[in-house]
Amino acid sequence: MKTEREIFARPINPEFGVTRWREDFPILRERVHGKPLVYLDNAATTQKPQTVIDAEVRYYSHDNANVHRGVHTLSQNATDAYEAARSKVQRFIKARAVEEIVFVRGATEGINLVAQSYARPLLSPGDEILISAMEHHSNIVPWQLVCEQTGAVLKVVPINDAGELNMEDFGALLGPRTRLVAITQLSNALGTITPIERVIAAAHAKGVPVLVDGAQAVSHLAVDVGALDCDFYAFSGHKIFGPTGIGVLYGKAARLDAMPPWQGGGDMIRSVTFEKTEYNDIPYKFEAGTPNIAGAIGLGAALDYVSSVGMEAIAAHEHDLLEYATRKASRIPGLRIVGTAKDKASILSFVLQGVHPHDIGTILDRKGVAIRAGHHCAMPVMQRFGIAGTARASFALYNTRDEVDALIAGINEVRRMFQ
Ligand code: ALA
Repeated sequence: MKTEREIFARPINPEFGVTRWREDFPILRERVHGKPLVYLDNAATTQKPQTVIDAEVRYYSHDNANVHRGVHTLSQNATDAYEAARSKVQRFIKARAVEEIVFVRGATEGINLVAQSYARPLLSPGDEILISAMEHHSNIVPWQLVCEQTGAVLKVVPINDAGELNMEDFGALLGPRTRLVAITQLSNALGTITPIERVIAAAHAKGVPVLVDGAQAVSHLAVDVGALDCDFYAFSGHKIFGPTGIGVLYGKAARLDAMPPWQGGGDMIRSVTFEKTEYNDIPYKFEAGTPNIAGAIGLGAALDYVSSVGMEAIAAHEHDLLEYATRKASRIPGLRIVGTAKDKASILSFVLQGVHPHDIGTILDRKGVAIRAGHHCAMPVMQRFGIAGTARASFALYNTRDEVDALIAGINEVRRMFQ
């Protein structure tokens, strides 16, 4: 842990490039209520660099056609660009094979796909799915649905007061009926980085596969699904500077091969008769219907962008911002940070005595500062801490210490208004 002096004395390395990176994001030049936009709602969605916007425009302006279907040039161009995006994803998360990358609408759809296609056929009454108490609704409700459908039981690993996973409880709950562990890598409500390496090793030691919800983690931590050895990894494009409506489900090839399709339609078939349908190979078996071609291409551009900046540089910068913001926020009387895990990234969730989080969010908005207020699609986390919601500032590579100062000044003003 650094001393206060070290944290406040250390200016952002001028070579570090935040100023340059900011120029890549046109929306950061917007003004809100006459004030410069301070965008601190990156956990909800990130802003898009010009290269991502340009990639979509270029696709629609020059290559738009359906993929895998046409013999004409545009269709081939579109198919090449779509498949090139798949390869970019493979390289970015270090999957062993490109077939292991399934394009979906987002992390939510990826998790639902695994729940329905992997888990549902194998679950019997009394079998167990193990999740943690810090999951987003997207990694709770799909499992509740499949439990209702099969008679399986949802088990939940508790978290401590800092918002950290209780590993002893995890070990105890990982039992002979556990059929799958589904866990976040980075909590969107608390900022906790979970020890997924240990979780995966412990689960695999008992023959239990693991799905990692990487929706928050993917833009803050370098992901290597090969090294992690997770069975499934799901993330959304829009949280890593890509478009909305596109995401990725990574699955080990052997797992995906063994799973039945989830949705039926075009592209997921090899042949169809009224008597019998033969399914396509992975990943197409899971991509029924015309996909979000432009979205995939935009996601590819987003991953190129992130790679050009470098995950290490991003993580170091965000770590600096989070430490700086945490120290400053901790000094505000009546402010309590919710989520104080030792291992954290990018998220400052807090409550302010006597002030509703929505009031904080609304007042900050008048100052151009965008944060999120509420339960953050993680109501059980709020229940765990006995609160209705928090105010949450979440950082990305383009945020600065000046913006943190604007946030802190805004919170201080809110506090004075409610005194
Ligand atoms: N899950 C997103 C968030 O944390 C929407 O805000």
